[in-house]
Amino acid sequence: MKPLKIGGLTVETPLVLAPMAGVTNRAFRLMVKRSGGCGLVNTEMFSSYAIKFKDPKTGYMVDWTEEERPIAAQVFGGDPETVAIGAEALQNAGADIVDINFGCPVPKVAKSNSGAVLLKDLKLCGEIIAAARKVVTKCPLTVKTRLGWREGEPTVLEFAKIARDNGADAVTVHGRYASQGYSGTADRDMIARVREVISVPLIANGDVTSPESAEDMFRRTGCDGVMIGRGALGNPWIFKETEAYLARGERLDPITPMERLEGAKEHARLLRERMGESRAAKEMRGHLIWYIKGMPGAPKLRNMIMTTGSVDEILEVLDGAVSRLKGEPES
Ligand SMILES: Cc1cc2nc3c(=O)[nH]c(=O)nc-3n(C[C@H](O)[C@H](O)[C@H](O)COP(=O)(O)O)c2cc1C
Repeated sequence: MKPLKIGGLTVETPLVLAPMAGVTNRAFRLMVKRSGGCGLVNTEMFSSYAIKFKDPKTGYMVDWTEEERPIAAQVFGGDPETVAIGAEALQNAGADIVDINFGCPVPKVAKSNSGAVLLKDLKLCGEIIAAARKVVTKCPLTVKTRLGWREGEPTVLEFAKIARDNGADAVTVHGRYASQGYSGTADRDMIARVREVISVPLIANGDVTSPESAEDMFRRTGCDGVMIGRGALGNPWIFKETEAYLARGERLDPITPMERLEGAKEHARLLRERMGESRAAKEMRGHLIWYIKGMPGAPKLRNMIMTTGSVDEILEVLDGAVSRLKGEPES
């Protein structure tokens, strides 16, 4: 495993937390960073239209801390001028990398002709990257995409060259087509073909859920970095485990149920600091399902979690679960 060099930035460990809307806010990024092994974290995506029209929610999301650096901030938009405004704003807000989204297929993003829909018009993709490159001069500019729009039509090979020619410092490829959503499996052989056509850093993404799977991704694709998304849900420790395995051949002990519960408590507290009792509780209930998956007593615990309305109540339920694991009487 070698450091990942993106433009003038060196990412010491080439393992990257994927951008995930509704997930990779400050609390989750800190969980990943503090667990160790992750070289680069991504924000949730920012709408360049919201930045342009000064939606106050956007200011709320520019919330990264020194502890999380280096941090990539992702922007989406469907026209060169607006994406350039968004990209420049994120650069000026102190992002270490600005990333443009060419892979998101959800209707909310597609409706502004942004994200994966853009893969139907590679010329426009080039114009968007060029416009952003003109203003992003202080930090690297990267792009994240899928294999193409329609299954079986790997426009990513052309896209990657266009990205390089218009100044992108790295390309991330999720090995699925937009039309697939999350069905099927990520096509690692197709990502390897991208490696053959560009020499700028390539970050490979899709279905990495274990150290072995990350190793396979590096080996099969020849990529420079591996990005992990869903594999980190309820498991921010996946980066530490993967780094130990790839750097030193070390297999760390599996995270125990107790460590999971303690981790979940920390996550809940971090969310509360950021968004207050009730919003944090709502968001945390979703995360808890992932944290407790497969744990002894998980179904009962899940039911108890679902009745909670505040972080305090969540912490109480988790403390009860910790006591039961330790065989202590509950307070
Ligand atoms: C809840 C969720 C939100 C996501 N949000 C974004 C996003 O904002 N920007 C983006 O480029 N990709 C987004 N993705 C896609 C991931 O970054 C990643 O490409 C995809 O999940 C495949 O990687 P994985 O198999 O490791 O999860 C999202 C995925 C999930 C599951």
